[in-house]
Amino acid sequence: MSDPIPTPNFIGMLLECQQDALDAIADGEKSAERLRIELLGAKSELSKLTKQIRFVPAVDRAQAGTVVNQVKQTILQALAARGTTQAPKTTLSFDPTMPGIEPPEGHLHIVTQAIEEITRIFERISFIRVRHPEVDWDWYAFGALNMPENHPARDEWETFFIQNEKLKVKSEMFSRIVLTPHTSNGQVREMEKKTLPIRMINIAKCYRRQIDVSHTPMFHQFEGLYIDRHVSISHLKGVLDYFAKQFFGPQRKTRIRPFHFQFTEPSFEVDVTCGVCNGRGCKLCKEGWLELGGAGMVHPNVLKNGNVSAGYNGFAFGWGVERCFMMKAGTQLDDIRLLYSNDVRFLEQF
Ligand code: PHE
Repeated sequence: MSDPIPTPNFIGMLLECQQDALDAIADGEKSAERLRIELLGAKSELSKLTKQIRFVPAVDRAQAGTVVNQVKQTILQALAARGTTQAPKTTLSFDPTMPGIEPPEGHLHIVTQAIEEITRIFERISFIRVRHPEVDWDWYAFGALNMPENHPARDEWETFFIQNEKLKVKSEMFSRIVLTPHTSNGQVREMEKKTLPIRMINIAKCYRRQIDVSHTPMFHQFEGLYIDRHVSISHLKGVLDYFAKQFFGPQRKTRIRPFHFQFTEPSFEVDVTCGVCNGRGCKLCKEGWLELGGAGMVHPNVLKNGNVSAGYNGFAFGWGVERCFMMKAGTQLDDIRLLYSNDVRFLEQF
């Protein structure tokens, strides 16, 4: 089984074959009879191409066939013009009223589409999309987030560390570099900009040493951070509900469950009602809820590390883009790695 050939590619190959043939005829080195066998015989390039017509999409096959015939006639005529072949007299006809062949159109990768959609959703409630380093100091990924060196909580993130002997260690804070295992490194970096209030949505690549049906070593997260005066858990819940309804659909609801993160207090795990059974419970979700990701009220130590003025507090949340995409109703992927396998047969479906 060969792969399908897009029609424009097939026609491109035919035209190339025609040009090569015309060049060979113009060259005048070989006898016309030899050329006729080489260019039109059973082993010719044109004959090989003609056999491949079955890989052209069925709807275009008739048109592709017309082009094959035209190329054949053009070659026959060129041979005849050299005077030694008795080519049948035909006139090459070109019908300008025939419909054109639509070239296949690409589209943005589905993860990019999801990132754009998430950005637009948060934009509507004044969250600004920012970017922070994806290769960063260990300090921003862990230390500043209330996870000092050797703190066991760091084990939750299967982190890639960068080895660099030449790195000049300026202080204990800036001594090691990581491929960011989450987008939370953007929290203290954003606070360091010293503009309050903060309404940040940081979408970036993250890296963890994991690969299986639900993990890829590179994935994306989006991190929300809201810092203002008198921010409460109700604000967080309001934003979560808003996002779930916008992204997953108006029927969806969220719930928060107590959890633990070093950098939020209290911390939550956020669930959204299952899109397949609408919260009633089914094979996919078991009890009607699907886990979205983490959230919580920013820990005072993190605010301190970011030098946030007294009187301000806030919430943060961080979720996987791919995960959210897979949880959307109608996109039931059973293997996250499909997203990065570059198989157009899969990507074309979205
Ligand atoms: N960074 C956490 C993770 O990767 C998620 C999180 C973000 C939790 C912000 C709380 C607040 O799992």
